[in-house]
Amino acid sequence: MKGVFDIDDYRAKAKKRLPAMVFDYLEGAADDESGLDHNRAAFHRWEFCPRRLVDVSAREQQTRLLGKSLPTPLVIAPTGLNGAFWPKGDLALAKAAAGAGIPFALSTASNMSIEEVAREVQGDLWFQLYVVHKNLAKSFVERAWAAEYSTLILTTDVAVNGFRKRDLRNGFAMPFRTSVRAACDGLTHPKWLWSYLTNGMPQLRNFATDTTSDTAAQAAVLRREMDAGFDWDDLKRLRDAWPGKLLVKGILTSADATRCIEAGADGVILSNHGARQHAGLPVPANVIAAVRDAVPASDLIVDSGVRTGADVVKAIALGANAVMLGRATLYGLAANGEAGVADVLAMIRRDIDRTLALIGCPAISALTRDFVAERPLMAAGR
Ligand SMILES: Cc1cc2nc3c(=O)[nH]c(=O)nc-3n(C[C@H](O)[C@H](O)[C@H](O)COP(=O)(O)O)c2cc1C
Repeated sequence: MKGVFDIDDYRAKAKKRLPAMVFDYLEGAADDESGLDHNRAAFHRWEFCPRRLVDVSAREQQTRLLGKSLPTPLVIAPTGLNGAFWPKGDLALAKAAAGAGIPFALSTASNMSIEEVAREVQGDLWFQLYVVHKNLAKSFVERAWAAEYSTLILTTDVAVNGFRKRDLRNGFAMPFRTSVRAACDGLTHPKWLWSYLTNGMPQLRNFATDTTSDTAAQAAVLRREMDAGFDWDDLKRLRDAWPGKLLVKGILTSADATRCIEAGADGVILSNHGARQHAGLPVPANVIAAVRDAVPASDLIVDSGVRTGADVVKAIALGANAVMLGRATLYGLAANGEAGVADVLAMIRRDIDRTLALIGCPAISALTRDFVAERPLMAAGR
């Protein structure tokens, strides 16, 4: 895209194209939103310890995740209501991921169904489960397996909805509420409005079958009100019910990571949900090393605040196997659909490559913890 060089540029384009209430939904965080800054600051906290006179004439990003080879240590995170950002947004993300050879995780709150995405995409598909109630969860799990999703993500950090002031102030809801303010918001963003009018209102398509057309459950997903009683015994039952790979998302302590692995999970996703649930939670980037020490043989994915290839390299050096991209790829989606997502992925890959060259590391697989160190306090910040 013309004039776009980094994720911040894509963010600006996304902000311009989307009505304010939709951009606020994409961008917003919980409470005073300080978690957004903390998530970014945690990556700035680390600096590289470069090695010189190393042959870096060829660089390799290939890595292994959940027993498979990946061309680059990236996964597209599950995000709900992608259809609000771009028509068939789930498909655009899934296709861009497949084009880059990386997994795409479809949210329970997607606007295309488990089956619709599987029919149209050849790549590695993961399904993210919100447990609203256990019968519905059982049906989603069976459908995801029947549609050949390889991996199930159980999201554990949404026992209740976070306090998101932007969404409350905007009255953000699906279907969009008609108000003078919302109408003005739409009319001042004609490109978005046109695609919205020609493609129709995004629906929660996973709920559109006979067994799942449960309007109370749909409303609960939209309000992010999950089964707050879901516990470790339920995780074990889920493990027994799902034959594929299982990841638990929202983990932030070594003790919980250890328990997940003991319960049969294949790995954990260190995440504070992009600071969208509570501002006071730990920052995933700060706990990678400790969790890696606690579960040395398990797959570890990190998200929340990843915006550059350098962030990815730092996360891997600290012990992660891969990172998940949330808002970064959504900015690309909102700005320019599948092409925007593909471009964001290419940008991050180029930045990983450049970073490897400049720190004297020829391969992602050769990164170790001593490639990073905490910045001295004087130099902290950007
Ligand atoms: C608009 C939006 C919607 C999201 N919806 C979901 C969801 O449906 N399920 C889920 O597990 N996480 C959801 N997340 C959290 C992401 O999976 C991921 O943890 C987060 O975006 C990572 O932080 P980042 O945006 O700073 O990269 C959502 C995030 C955003 C920005």
